[in-house]
Amino acid sequence: MLYGNDGLDELGILEGINEVIATTEVSGRINAAPLGIIRDGDRLYVRLFLGSHTYENILTRGWFVANISHDAWLFSETAIEDLDQDYFMHREDLPVLKDAEAWGLFQCKPFASDIIIANVQLIKGEVLRKDFRAINRGANLVIEAAVAATRYLALRTDSYFDELMKMQRIINRCGGPREQEAMDRLMDRIDKYTHVR
Ligand SMILES: Cc1cc2nc3c(=O)[nH]c(=O)nc-3n(C[C@H](O)[C@H](O)[C@H](O)COP(=O)(O)O)c2cc1C
Repeated sequence: MLYGNDGLDELGILEGINEVIATTEVSGRINAAPLGIIRDGDRLYVRLFLGSHTYENILTRGWFVANISHDAWLFSETAIEDLDQDYFMHREDLPVLKDAEAWGLFQCKPFASDIIIANVQLIKGEVLRKDFRAINRGANLVIEAAVAATRYLALRTDSYFDELMKMQRIINRCGGPREQEAMDRLMDRIDKYTHVR
């Protein structure tokens, strides 16, 4: 077990924006969604946008678990859908994704506002397995596509839709079946949304 911010490097949380999947738990229900932890020298913080479950849960409980994962499918899925509770386990009584490569419990003291920037601190964490793989452009683009999809759904800006179409072509060429499925599911969600807006 790693304790305190000294454990950040070991958990793979390095300088820059670290994309993780944040799990939170309120009243026995676990929620998961992508979140960026920004590490800038000694500063460590998150930007939380009003209205998400993650925002509400962090406001209520004052913590989140950062799940470190390379699985682009999990990022895109948790960005747009609620994950079935079967995807989670408990470690040290905390909600952790079964497929996480490492996890870290972060304390967070947010305040209510539209967008909040909250300093965070690693309390404890654990490396579950060290995974490595070659870079896959399709997988990287699925993460970008999930960002564009959440922005498109929130802001309805057409340029995000154009970006998504371009990314889909590259994901179909470079990604494996899991990345292609992740992208298809993002586009299905957007199609459904476009028809109801
Ligand atoms: C790669 C990625 C990074 C994201 N980073 C953040 C972030 O730093 N802060 C935030 O509030 N939302 C972020 N989002 C958007 C949320 O994950 C998204 O709004 C999600 O639907 C929230 O789900 P929830 O309501 O279950 O919390 C990110 C999305 C993606 C795909």
